[in-house]
Amino acid sequence: MTSLSAPVPPVPSEVPPGSIAWLRASVARFSNGPDHARRRALAVSLLDSVGDLREAALTRTRGIVAALETFDVMAEIARPVPVGVLAEALGLPDVSADVAPVAAAYHPHVTPGRGAEAALGRLITACGAADELAAARIGLLVQACDATAGLIGNGLFASLTGKPAEQPVLGTRRRIDGEDVTVSLAGSPFGAGPRACPGSRHAHALAAGVLEALRGFRLTEVETTWVSSPNLRMPAVLRVTRDRTGSGLC
Ligand code: HEM
Repeated sequence: MTSLSAPVPPVPSEVPPGSIAWLRASVARFSNGPDHARRRALAVSLLDSVGDLREAALTRTRGIVAALETFDVMAEIARPVPVGVLAEALGLPDVSADVAPVAAAYHPHVTPGRGAEAALGRLITACGAADELAAARIGLLVQACDATAGLIGNGLFASLTGKPAEQPVLGTRRRIDGEDVTVSLAGSPFGAGPRACPGSRHAHALAAGVLEALRGFRLTEVETTWVSSPNLRMPAVLRVTRDRTGSGLC
């Protein structure tokens, strides 16, 4: 058994309904055994139901950049577009502004603030009820949020600099021999085994659409800054400008 096949550290199940703790207790990501199998199947069936994300991401990104000359790709595009497109494909309004704070509070080592709890409350209202289906839809958006922004930011940075693209998510947690440990994802950007990312195809489609719409932009002279989280490797700010010379992104 590889370490990625080990169970995830369990999260508390006696939690206030509709809270961030409830979201953790209700999604595949932090479940084990039959709960994991059932919740993962639900997430996979939702993902199977969505249409062409590449085209939707391309169109949405083109619409945003049409009015922009110089901008931060992470703030304007890489964070909001994938979540907005996926939300629409899952039958929800554009809830990207509420997904970001929930994503920042999602992992069990974080103590959620009031802003994150309130944002989750609005997401549940958009989903109609605090049930396992709502948790699955919200879970997909939250899982997509940072990781897909990282895939886009790293992909764009690599194509504009000629450096190799780095993987955005560096490690994950498992319970092995009674101890909670960090397991490296080096070489497996989408994980492996029974918990491997079910959204990899969707993430690649979203990134491809966004990156196509960003052809014709180049990095500004302002140096790229990187997020400070030890588990994420992705730009925090990535400023680009329209390339009037025509020699920018190939
Ligand atoms: C549309 C975008 C995405 C969606 C909907 C999505 C969804 C999910 C879901 C539901 C899980 C939990 C699976 C389970 O526990 O059985 C998961 C796990 C995972 N995702 Fe994604 N994901 C997306 C993008 C990404 C990206 C861009 C990356 C990194 C390049 C990534 C890396 C991972 C990894 C490494 C895991 C496994 C974590 C572990 O084994 O502990 N995901 N994803």
